[in-house]
Amino acid sequence: MTEQKKLAQIGVVGLAVMGSNIARNFARHGHTVAVYNRSHDKTEHFMENFASEGDFIPADSIESFVNSLERPRRALIMVKAGGPTDAVIEQLADAMEPGDIIIDGGNSLYTDTIRREAEMSERGLNFVGAGISGGEEGALNGPSIMPGGPEESYESLGPLLESVSAKVDGTPCCTHIGPNGAGHFVKMVHNGIEYADMQVIGEAYHLLRYAAGMDPQEIAEVFREWNSGDLDSYLVEITAEVLSQVDAETGKPLIDVIVDSAGQKGTGRWTVKAALDLGIPTTGIGEAVFARALSGARAQRAATIANLPAGQLVAEGVKDRAAFIEDVRRALYASKLVAYAQGFDEIKAGSQEHGWNVDPRDLATIWRGGCIIRAKFLNRIVEAYNNNPEVESLLLDPYFNNEMSGLIDSWRRIVVEATTRGLPIPVFASSLSYYDSLRAERLPAALIQGQRDFFGAHTYERTDKDGHFHTLWSGDRTEVEA
Ligand code: 6PG
Repeated sequence: MTEQKKLAQIGVVGLAVMGSNIARNFARHGHTVAVYNRSHDKTEHFMENFASEGDFIPADSIESFVNSLERPRRALIMVKAGGPTDAVIEQLADAMEPGDIIIDGGNSLYTDTIRREAEMSERGLNFVGAGISGGEEGALNGPSIMPGGPEESYESLGPLLESVSAKVDGTPCCTHIGPNGAGHFVKMVHNGIEYADMQVIGEAYHLLRYAAGMDPQEIAEVFREWNSGDLDSYLVEITAEVLSQVDAETGKPLIDVIVDSAGQKGTGRWTVKAALDLGIPTTGIGEAVFARALSGARAQRAATIANLPAGQLVAEGVKDRAAFIEDVRRALYASKLVAYAQGFDEIKAGSQEHGWNVDPRDLATIWRGGCIIRAKFLNRIVEAYNNNPEVESLLLDPYFNNEMSGLIDSWRRIVVEATTRGLPIPVFASSLSYYDSLRAERLPAALIQGQRDFFGAHTYERTDKDGHFHTLWSGDRTEVEA
């Protein structure tokens, strides 16, 4: 009797660290995994190092890779977003058959995913854009996975992805997000929130360093303490590690030998661009993206550092360090809350725009573990949306609303302190203005409408009656109904 050829439940194309690690993760969970890399030596290297960890089927061509997959075939692409991903999709599509599933696990732009899903659907193939968050460690030990694509493909793909995802209270940090580009869209916003989260942590550090005169080790201890409370999160945890790291070469705190110019691969930018198109003021994320850009404008900064008048600055250190540290903690928490509220507003708007029907509870649930923004307070966001999935803003949820009552005075004090000391806090300050704009009975937009009507006859609405109106500014200044 001919021996039944062993087939893989899933295959991974692209064996750089992320691809290798998620392939290992699948194998560790008892799945047979096909592995392929365009340069075959990487596949050989992978097998030399990891074959003992599980059941792998190495392939030396896309065709043999596809033929080693059980039906419906499931191929996970873990290569660079853009052209390289398009190339692999094309190769797989040529070799696969209707009903098979192509999964793009990279940080692809969600509009590319919408296009690709339509193209693959034409060929009878299922295309899934899956956000995978948690970096290299997450890929190996349990990421948060945000798959979009057809509901029916999730039936066969979901259990596989859920088996390798992080788990919180036994719940997988993976669920079907919605059709076509929904998965990559929410991953993009996840990264935007990550940018804001990292920026407000940076602003808190900057204040403790340069207003309270604390050294990195002392600040690391403060972050460790904060990590045991409401700010319990991966980013706060790793911040303490980065700040306590000593540079072996110089003996200085590592933070002091790192160039203060932040990189960005693009997902934060995409988040802001999408928010602008959707008309959602993700001010915290936007300021975080611009802060990275400003930090990288080295020639301009070299010219401006000593040449911009600073005005009268408060120079002496803070009087009550403990009180200041607590104020900074509260300002950080408040600004973080605004960033998450804005991010979820953008997801709601994107879901409405594209008809995805994304459930914010799903996201808060699967972001509790595995991903870069994993944080204890995401449990509270789950509760908030359980209480009211249609809440106008997370800031109106009774729990967060009450939290804000205890944060707002500190937040205002910190914005004043930083401003009088000439310390940059773009997200702390813009988030407070966003918050105050939401609170304001009247906004300066009334004047903007008057200006627009004056120079462009763009009309305005009145507070006391329906309709659109225009004043005859260059005539007798009477008002006419438009
Ligand atoms: C994640 C991360 C990851 C991100 C890199 C670099 O969720 O695992 O967000 O997807 O791309 O960390 O991001 P930036 O270069 O844009 O900071």
